[in-house]
Formats: sequence, C-alpha cells, structure tokens
Amino acid sequence: MDFKDYIRVIPDFPQPGISFKDITTLLNDGEKYRLAIEELKSRVSHLKIDLIAGPEARGFVVGAPLAYALGVGFVPIRKSGKLPYETIEVGYDLEYGKDKLAMHTDAVKPGQNVLIADDLLATGGTISTSVDLVRKLGGNVVGTAFLIELGDLNGRAKLPGIDVFSLVHYDF
Ligand code: PRP
Ligand code: MG
Repeated sequence: MDFKDYIRVIPDFPQPGISFKDITTLLNDGEKYRLAIEELKSRVSHLKIDLIAGPEARGFVVGAPLAYALGVGFVPIRKSGKLPYETIEVGYDLEYGKDKLAMHTDAVKPGQNVLIADDLLATGGTISTSVDLVRKLGGNVVGTAFLIELGDLNGRAKLPGIDVFSLVHYDF
C-alpha cells in the first residue's frame, strides 16, 4: 500500500512556500496507522535496539507506538523547560524558526543502543539535535526512522554514517 494516499498535503502552511505534510489523516485511520508502525518495525527489525527516543510532539506518535511494538522503552525528547528532572539541552534551527531540545540526563545509559524516531525528516535539524543529545549521554545511535522524508531538503546530509529508514518520500 502507498501511505502517501493517507497523508494530506496543505500548501502554504504554516507560511507561504511550505507544503505541509499532514499526518493527522493517517493517524485518524486505525488500520493504516497500525500498518505504518508495523512497516517501520519491519524495517528496523535487524537492529539491536534498547530504547527509542522521539522528539516532541509528532515524534511521540511515531516513536512511542514503535517502542511498544518492539517491546523497548521510550525516551521523550522535549522542548526546553518541559522536563521536570535534570536535563541536557542542545539548540537547533528548524525549517522555520529556532528552538532548544532537552532530554533527562538519566534517560539513556552509556552504551545503550538507541533508535531515534520522528514523523518527518526535512532539513534534519531536529533529528541531528536528537542524535547529539543521545550521544552526549553516551548512547549509541543505531538508526533513525520516519514516516516521511523530504528528499529535496537533504536531511540525510546531517546524519553521516547513520542509517535512515523512511516510509514515504517527497521530492519537489
Ligand atoms: C517538525 C516535524 C519534525 C521536524 C522536521 O516538527 O515533526 O520533528 O519539524 O524538520 P527538520 O528536519 O527541518 O528539523 P516541529 O518542530 O514543527 O514540531 P512538532 O513536532 O511539535 O509539531
Ligand atoms: Mg516535530
């Protein structure tokens, strides 16, 4: 099946020139949502994974069910100021804007194998920042998984030596 059929494309959102890939239509269909997570699971099944980390907010709707399906723990990567315990933080540039991402200092133990999951790979800023956070704690990033990859923005260039698994590609 082509998951593109279940992703809604909204032109000029949130600003002119951005073609927003809206996954809420996929999430709304229980069978297709489950199939998407199962497909990602099969793409990463050869990896040894101890934990999945996902950046808020849309990374939670991919990373958490994938962690559940694989039977491993989930680490939330959050925007600055949201996590209650001791954190590490890394700043980054978004496709449109700037922000900081944070993780609890005890969320990943040195040597643990971490897969990072998000809904979308665009410029790669979010995911490369997530990689930095995991590595700062001594985690081993074994790959990255996405529902959607925007090929023209070449986010892969920000992930040298890291495998990228994505279900749907857009190039324009
Ligand atoms: C979106 C998307 C990815 C990121 C991709 O998140 O969910 O996390 O942008 O872009 P990048 O590869 O250029 O970093 P956003 O920051 O809009 O926040 P949200 O997930 O909370 O909606
Ligand atoms: Mg996001």
